Amino acid sequence: MMSRTVTITDNATGKTLECPVLEGTHGQPVIDSRALSTELGMFNYDPAYVTTASCTSKITFIDGEKGILLYRGYPIEQLAENSSYIEVCYLLLNGELPTPEQFTTFQKSLCNVSLLHEGLVNFYNGFRRDSHPMGMMVGVVGALSSYYHKELDIEDPAHRDLCALRLIGKIPAIAARTLRYKMGRYYVHPSYKYSYVENFYHMLFHLPNRKLNMSPVAIKALEIMLILHADHEQNASTSTVRLAGSSQANPYACVAAGIATLWGPAHGGANEAVIKMLYEIGDVKNVPGYIEKVKDKNNHTRLMGFGHRVYKNFDPRATIIRNICHQLLQELDNPELKPIFEIAMELERIALEDEYFIERKLYPNVDFYSGIILSSLGIPTEMFTVLFAVARTAGWIAQWKEMMEEPNMRIGRPRQLYTGAAQRDYVAMDQR
Ligand code: ACO
Repeated sequence: MMSRTVTITDNATGKTLECPVLEGTHGQPVIDSRALSTELGMFNYDPAYVTTASCTSKITFIDGEKGILLYRGYPIEQLAENSSYIEVCYLLLNGELPTPEQFTTFQKSLCNVSLLHEGLVNFYNGFRRDSHPMGMMVGVVGALSSYYHKELDIEDPAHRDLCALRLIGKIPAIAARTLRYKMGRYYVHPSYKYSYVENFYHMLFHLPNRKLNMSPVAIKALEIMLILHADHEQNASTSTVRLAGSSQANPYACVAAGIATLWGPAHGGANEAVIKMLYEIGDVKNVPGYIEKVKDKNNHTRLMGFGHRVYKNFDPRATIIRNICHQLLQELDNPELKPIFEIAMELERIALEDEYFIERKLYPNVDFYSGIILSSLGIPTEMFTVLFAVARTAGWIAQWKEMMEEPNMRIGRPRQLYTGAAQRDYVAMDQR
């Protein structure tokens, strides 16, 4: 069978280029346009890379139209129902689900690297207590590179594995320390007695004068939050990690760059923005007015937690998390959060029936519910993106490793369409 191609013709010169069409396992095929520059003397113009496949990857697949999310081929619904976060980490890193022995070894290895160097702990004292926790995360995760010089040869597969293990093993302790520093609380070390997720919960909330209620529903909710956010294909932060890594920067610095990107409200900061929006609305009776405000083109307000660059029918993570949200609120029965949740449900109801949202395929995304879950777990709003960063560390480092293992890996270098001044001569200051 003749392989499929797409012909590009330059109607100014009559030159043509036959571009091979490459097929993946799933998803839209891609046009291999690498010869554009050498053959036709042109570049692709694709602002925000919305139609550009920047790499091949075997890790995560999303079908935004059908609402499908697969990690290494496994549907997110099955993983959320049956798996654990660290099993998912193993899967993302290694491509297969672990055997019981592999799982136990991985779990132990993560526990073994989970402590923070005391020098790293000192970093926190340099931050103001009112610093944004994501600012602290960027600094502390970047600083990890200065503690492990001896195992930082990115060409060595064993070093790469150790970096991945250290990042996944230490990130809950770094996040918990960030919260505790802000609250003026002492640091709680990880304990061999707990699972990865229980340990995280314990490090976040342990107090010597109160019994810690590790409710199974709360632990399950946290586990699912981590699973759902573990990877998401070539999004802005993951692409940042890959681009930073393509210069052969060390993986701690690359993940710090990913954390910086995730911080933005159009990306990981959205669940924080959802909670702020719900408090701003304040009462169910104000919901219709708010909906009118977000539909008004002259008013640049958006309905936070709605819409997604890729999911155009529904976000499969939103469906899973919506159920957990209901369970958790019932179990915890937190009167403070009830009105907020009622506002969220009313927003969801009205928006899903409104032509504006239907026409533009704007559905609740994972962040619409995740903020409510994290609030019910007692996590302060400012910390939401930090939780996202904890979860996504597995995806970032799996993607970094995949890129480093590619034989033809090159430094990333996007091009541009220059629209500035044409070449001109310098004019002396006294003649301007
Ligand atoms: N509220 C109101 N209108 C919206 C919203 C929204 N949340 N999102 C998109 N629109 C409208 C736009 O105004 C535009 O309308 P127009 O065609 O009349 O001009 C149309 O829908 C398309 O909008 P785009 O910005 O082109 O959509 P895009 O796919 O680029 O944006 C994004 C996706 C950034 C997520 C956007 O929907 C948004 O800002 N949502 C709110 C923030 C949010 O929840 N972010 C979380 C993303 S999920 C994550 O990172 C885990």
